[in-house]
Amino acid sequence: MRPAALLLCLASALCVHTYGATDPAWPGPDHWGDLPDAEYQVFMEREIVTTIPVSQNPRGVVFAFHGCLQYVTEFGFKSASCPNCHGTPEMMTLVWKFVKSGYAVVAMSARRGGDQWRCYETRWPPEEWQELPGIIRVIRHFLRERRWWHLPRYTFGSSSGGVIALELPLRFPFQAAMSMLLGFRSEILDSEDALEPRNLHNGATWPYPPVMIMRILDDEKDVVERCNKTIEVMAERGVNVSEWVIRPYPLSETFFAERLRGCDLVCSAEVYARLRDADIIDARGFSKWHKCENCWDRTYEKAKTALWDIFPTWEDDHYDRYFKEMMWASLGAHDTTAQHADAIIDFYEAAARKSEVPAHEDHPSFSERYSSDSASAAHAKQLSEQPGAAILAEPRRRHHRHRLQIR
Ligand SMILES: *[C@@H]1O[C@H](CO)[C@@H](O)[C@H](O)[C@H]1NC(C)=O
Ligand SMILES: *[C@@H]1O[C@H](CO)[C@@H](O)[C@H](O)[C@H]1NC(C)=O
Repeated sequence: MRPAALLLCLASALCVHTYGATDPAWPGPDHWGDLPDAEYQVFMEREIVTTIPVSQNPRGVVFAFHGCLQYVTEFGFKSASCPNCHGTPEMMTLVWKFVKSGYAVVAMSARRGGDQWRCYETRWPPEEWQELPGIIRVIRHFLRERRWWHLPRYTFGSSSGGVIALELPLRFPFQAAMSMLLGFRSEILDSEDALEPRNLHNGATWPYPPVMIMRILDDEKDVVERCNKTIEVMAERGVNVSEWVIRPYPLSETFFAERLRGCDLVCSAEVYARLRDADIIDARGFSKWHKCENCWDRTYEKAKTALWDIFPTWEDDHYDRYFKEMMWASLGAHDTTAQHADAIIDFYEAAARKSEVPAHEDHPSFSERYSSDSASAAHAKQLSEQPGAAILAEPRRRHHRHRLQIR
């Protein structure tokens, strides 16, 4: 087993990714056209929104999962191939960054989807619920249909989707896992063996991949506690954990042009000035728009009054959601942000460099066939001597705990 390792990445210069001189750092106002249209489909009772780099030849695949207050259709802009899409600024900036870096993004809804129920079922053990096994069936289908088995694959999730992003590598091998906002459920952290990745059909096991937890500095106490505990327990188990703390970041005159498609630099400066005048942005550029779900939101009313003539299709075109997302994310409220997308990509790439080539579909890690434990161990040994099979470890019954002083 690998030595325990912990990488602390506290929103410092250490983790800053620098683009080449010719690469724009943000999609807007002039580079949204680089993003191919998303494709929408319903498959195995899930809505799926896929964006594939223009080359059709991705370097890897990001499987993405949204939060309870988001929709999977926020992972694409409206187009002929995704008529219901209404991509939001932070989510689309993330998609743009992933696709621009050569990754395909496959975003998947919760099983029932639609308006009624948007949260994923994250309770453990997953075999008692249909969510995780169903997601794995869809992933398997994509890898097969698109011939993507050889590519590195990553999970990305936010809030409830972040829990799915953490749970998936326990049942299906990935090169890296990334959760924004949330950690594992306590029933998993408290269990002796839940955190051991394993194929229940044949007993094959593999190491948990490097994991990044991006949490909000001033999130609700129980959310921070859950993230803290996840980091602590994963590190104890010898998993390579990176922690990233999201702090409030200031808005600027160009901010809205960078992330909100269709808003040019003139529009952006005007939006910034009006939100400053309305006291929704403070003198240093920080958002003052506190999150208020299902309550009378005075700031929302002020913002709408200040901006609706610039965006006359305000409600029909989801501008209320767009502004809440940008303003809440920058405030450091519980919302998805694209601010640290480059750090996520760097994390994925570093993890993939250390990881062995993913095994093919016929590898026991992926097998849906049952075989006895001893038969699978022998098979595993034989396979582990073949190139490309190294993500399979011998079945482990006992953990070698590596205690780590993490703080
Ligand atoms: C979470 O961990 C951080 C860093 O160790 C610590 O400062 C903070 O108090 C912890 N928060 C909670 C709610 O446990
Ligand atoms: C932990 O993971 C990060 C990101 O994948 C990587 O850069 C780092 O080298 C890893 N550390 C160890 C000790 O494997």
